[in-house]
Amino acid sequence: MNAVMQDGFGRQIDYLRMSVTDRCDFRCVYCMAKNMTFLPRQQVLTLEELQRLATLFVGQGVRKIRLTGGEPLIRPGIVGLCRNIAALPGLRELVMTSNGSQLGRLARPLVEAGVKRMNISLDSLDGQKFRAITRNGDLDQVLGGIEAARGAGFERVKLNCVVMKGRNFDEVPALVQYAIDQRIDISFIEEMPLGDVGRSRGESFCSSDEVRTLIAGRHRLLDSTENSGGPARYVRLERHPDTRIGFISPNSHNFCGSCNRVRMTVEGKLLLCLGQEDALDLRGLLRRYPLDDQPVINAIHNALRGKPLRHDFSPEGEVQIVRFMSMSGG
Ligand code: 5AD
Ligand code: SF4
Repeated sequence: MNAVMQDGFGRQIDYLRMSVTDRCDFRCVYCMAKNMTFLPRQQVLTLEELQRLATLFVGQGVRKIRLTGGEPLIRPGIVGLCRNIAALPGLRELVMTSNGSQLGRLARPLVEAGVKRMNISLDSLDGQKFRAITRNGDLDQVLGGIEAARGAGFERVKLNCVVMKGRNFDEVPALVQYAIDQRIDISFIEEMPLGDVGRSRGESFCSSDEVRTLIAGRHRLLDSTENSGGPARYVRLERHPDTRIGFISPNSHNFCGSCNRVRMTVEGKLLLCLGQEDALDLRGLLRRYPLDDQPVINAIHNALRGKPLRHDFSPEGEVQIVRFMSMSGG
């Protein structure tokens, strides 16, 4: 009998997003403030603790794990952690979200370790704009990382782009063309109001409908019922069958009814919903019960019963959630 996890509304939870570091070599304007204070080491889960939690969640019915950050690939020991998690019996797939900066070096080792799919952030194809959005990032290094990922043998490589007025909205057509040329999918994401990033988000907010209209001016779009198990709605391009365009619209479309996921911060807080503050302190439990998983398992099932029905984001609502995205696991 395979174990299953269910929340109080009968939603089956089989997808865990785990942040493996709150640090990042970039400081994207929608994700971080310019000057960030990162967590002291003793508050961060060790590799052994991350491994223990992954094992425990897979034992309880998690079938898919996504490693996120911060930037997961700057955590020392990440490839070994991937190898251990990928080998867990019962796990269907281990996937990752990365900013691409380290993929030139790590794409192949990650495939060999068992990482199945890679989502890479790409918000601009203009070196200067890319640097302005990421504050630190080098576009050529990331494009090299995307190429390395495409050549490394992942089952799928996908791009993610957060669209902002006055920053990269005008680049949407070029980004679509890049995805077509690379024969990969790209998702456009509405900015979510997570953390005080030191500016108003309302003025840059751009809805998925606006992005879709811009693309539809250049390509014939075919609606698609496809679903990759996430909140993206996909369209296909009539003339380019190898590329799908995804729209992730946390603000204007509520997809909570089919939510199948929970998130874990690198401090070991189990977040039941991205848009809510409720969390279970798993780190405390792990350290209190170093040799006994049962109390931890019981606490997880208990917490899931309190998973909220839905989030409530709105672009005008500015910082309702004080956590940064780099704390929440993407
Ligand atoms: N809104 C939407 N997406 C965000 N990300 C980070 N911060 C935000 C935000 N405020 C997403 C980006 C990035 C991934 C790591 O997290 O898509 O690619
Ligand atoms: Fe780093 Fe990703 Fe946040 Fe950008 S969005 S600062 S790449 S974690």
